[in-house]
Amino acid sequence: MSEAVLAMVDVQAGYGGGLVLQGLDLQIDKGTITCIVGPNGAGKSTVFRVISGLIKPKSGTVTFLGKDITGQSPSAVLRAGVAQVPQNRALFPEMTVHENVLLGGYAIRRDRALLKQRMAMVEEMVPLVRERAKEHAGNLSGGQRRMVEIGRALMLNPSLVLMDEPSLGLDPKSVAKVALLIREMAASGRTVLMVEQNVRLGMNLATHGVVMEQGKVRLTGDAAGIADNPEVATMYLGKARED
Ligand SMILES: Nc1ncnc2c1ncn2[C@@H]1O[C@H](COP(=O)(O)OP(=O)(O)OP(=O)(O)O)[C@@H](O)[C@H]1O
Ligand SMILES: [Mg+2]
Repeated sequence: MSEAVLAMVDVQAGYGGGLVLQGLDLQIDKGTITCIVGPNGAGKSTVFRVISGLIKPKSGTVTFLGKDITGQSPSAVLRAGVAQVPQNRALFPEMTVHENVLLGGYAIRRDRALLKQRMAMVEEMVPLVRERAKEHAGNLSGGQRRMVEIGRALMLNPSLVLMDEPSLGLDPKSVAKVALLIREMAASGRTVLMVEQNVRLGMNLATHGVVMEQGKVRLTGDAAGIADNPEVATMYLGKARED
């Protein structure tokens, strides 16, 4: 039997009065890379906001490593082992790469030994963090900044890493580097849940695919199956970024 890292059961959530997620079920197994695709407004980012505690679901449950985390605060979810790599421009441009990454370890700042150990781990996974340690983050390219953002998210040694459109705005070379790092994270036992607009790219990288539509999971399966699904092809591939 596979080991569930995350389970969302019948989750309803939204903003103000309206419901965006309308009974969403999702199970993510350990060591997998799952890619969520779906049209704009389907609720993909909202799924992340519910998991990371930014919005509380109106009903349903979120279970992480067997523990109910429904409605917990963002910092509690982070400490439990779920890290989110935020969208673009999340680094402080006037701070160095090293300082930016250190911020990811804020919750363990009093444990100097652990902090040091984690920094070494991050530098090993993302060599750029060591190579450009003293550089202002604002001087890095978009692709380099994305790598540093991922490094920062790894400081608390998360079991589950959430990435919303990690390839957004990056050139192909940078996308390939980010993809490699995602694969390495999964190979080292982490679980990755990502959203990607580019279905082809996402399913190539992922082991599992989830297709969302109007706040619900429409299809799930192994990534190759989702990529080859004729329904998905007509629904999304044709529409996936023309560029
Ligand atoms: N802060 C907010 N306040 C009110 N409504 C919101 C908010 N954020 C998102 N929504 C609405 O919730 C719905 C789902 O948004 P969400 O961001 O989850 O979609 P998405 O699938 O990530 O879309 P995209 O592909 O465009 O990123 C949309 O109708 C959106 O307008
Ligand atoms: Mg989104």
